[in-house]
Amino acid sequence: MCGIVGLVGEIVVSDLIEGLEKLEYRGYDSAGVAFLRDSSLCVEKNKGRVASLKEKLSELLNERITLGIAHTRWATHGEPNDINAHPHTDCQSKLCVVHNGIIENFKELKKRLEEVGHRFVSDTDTEVIPHLIEEYYTTDLVEAVRKAVKLLEGSFAIAVIHVDHPDIIVGTRKGSPLILTVGNGVAGIASDVTPLLKYSKDMVFLEDGDIFCVSKGGFEVFDVVGRKKERKPTHIDWTYETAQKSGYKHYMLKEIFEEPSCVAATLSGRIKSAKVHLPEIEELQDLLASSKTLKVVACGTSSYAALSFKYFLENLSDVCVDVEVSSEFRYKRPNFDENTVLVAVSQSGETADTLESVRLAKSKGAKVLAITNVVGSTLMRESDHTLLLNAGPEISVAATKSYVTQLVLLYLLGLKIVELRDQWNERCTKLIDSLLRLPEVLDATLSRAEHIKEVALKYKDFQHFMYIGRGLGYPTALEGALKLKEISYIHATAYPAGELKHGPIALLGPEFPVFAIAPFDALYAKMKNNMIECKARKTKLVVLTSDDCEDVREIADDVLSVNSFSEQLYPVLMAPVIQLFAYYIADALGHDPDKPKNLAKSVTVE
Ligand code: F6R
Repeated sequence: MCGIVGLVGEIVVSDLIEGLEKLEYRGYDSAGVAFLRDSSLCVEKNKGRVASLKEKLSELLNERITLGIAHTRWATHGEPNDINAHPHTDCQSKLCVVHNGIIENFKELKKRLEEVGHRFVSDTDTEVIPHLIEEYYTTDLVEAVRKAVKLLEGSFAIAVIHVDHPDIIVGTRKGSPLILTVGNGVAGIASDVTPLLKYSKDMVFLEDGDIFCVSKGGFEVFDVVGRKKERKPTHIDWTYETAQKSGYKHYMLKEIFEEPSCVAATLSGRIKSAKVHLPEIEELQDLLASSKTLKVVACGTSSYAALSFKYFLENLSDVCVDVEVSSEFRYKRPNFDENTVLVAVSQSGETADTLESVRLAKSKGAKVLAITNVVGSTLMRESDHTLLLNAGPEISVAATKSYVTQLVLLYLLGLKIVELRDQWNERCTKLIDSLLRLPEVLDATLSRAEHIKEVALKYKDFQHFMYIGRGLGYPTALEGALKLKEISYIHATAYPAGELKHGPIALLGPEFPVFAIAPFDALYAKMKNNMIECKARKTKLVVLTSDDCEDVREIADDVLSVNSFSEQLYPVLMAPVIQLFAYYIADALGHDPDKPKNLAKSVTVE
């Protein structure tokens, strides 16, 4: 998730910088601008924050220009450095491109372009775009962009400027957001409305496949075959504050609603011909194919994603997955050697205990595979290999979209391991198909948010909550309890449902509700017995189930449900429900879910 801005009209250089500052929440690995000055292209970019770019440009900030594009980067392909920063140019430095998204087929395109003489300087997927446009350009920039876009696979929002066209910005979008506005002598495009609000409140939300050409006085939109499209502006009344959260009350809510598109980004380019494609771990293949045990370390929410991975992979293969909380692992006698693979899961890539676990493992010769969201994080730098979540920055302290994308990426890793061990079967092929459908099914879960809110509000005044689940429902129960306690400050605990009788059931009664994770899966009958036992103690019972479960309403006080789906994928589908349940309670109690007390986004101390 990067941020892009383009402005054309009566502007100065600092307008571009101001736009970038508003988009910095979308990524801060590097920043860059390109604008036309004295009929030549001026490109300035650097690793790091917008502030250092602003400093570099300090002499030029008040310079009048006619147009420019700008970018703030959340790195996916290519480490964060000056060269990989956007904008990227063609061979002759006549045109410049900024891009948000991922070009899945960039390797093939790059090879083809190199064969016809194009020279590349960065490691990014983006750089193929200016070269492709250059290849098609004669005199018509819109036409060249249209032809180039036809060859791109993946998700993208792109803005292009060209020295021969000093008064237009051309671009397109597919799968990544792009908004356009015209007002006050300026026309602009951006990844969200925040950089554009000062020019107008009438926004055109571009649609997938739209190719736009914007000039000071107006804009035109075409489809991919060149037919003109009509796009009407929508008037919005957002302030800058609400716009930053895309109109949501809190970042947490916004990030939950981003989950379908984040999952699409995590999956992007990683499934090919119904098999998992993870070139990042090619060198680990022999070890993953032969090791009896796989070690996994993580903290908090990430450790619950790791626990789901254990259930998932052990169910499909003969690997034993050993999940440990990093703060315990780091002080244990290391029982492994150079034939061990340690998977370290951390959204931030900066969690102190996880980093120490990695150092311990490496000192014994183990190979470390990082699963993280942050390119250039300490975890990524210190690990042998990395798989990136590609979820974009998570601002709310509570992990939401990072948890969902961790689950998806770990499942992909699991399926890859199954394949490497020659244990692939029909179930795996079906899982691939279900994974690809996840963004759409997650959307369906989110469409039930109002009902989740209604149920949540009924429970906001309880002091305690017990979450229970079996199998893959158990890590979901742990995560549900963690979400509730960390943002609403209601005491919540989680147990495997079968453990109730070994002690925790003593707590239950009318004042101690139970939240049961009970999809209609192979363990449902067992869960049902446990739920009946809870009801016998007169506890209130909320059940999170699947639509195909018919008899649960006879037992439950309240039912929350998700689409009937592949059993193994319920943790992903149910994640937004447990998150929203906690969110609505926290909000109703007047707590700020984005900044829970005593907590920090990265736990960089022990
Ligand atoms: C809970 C939460 C934490 C983190 C934990 C590990 O919502 O966010 O439990 O999951 O602190 O953080 P990372 O994944 O950055 O290592």
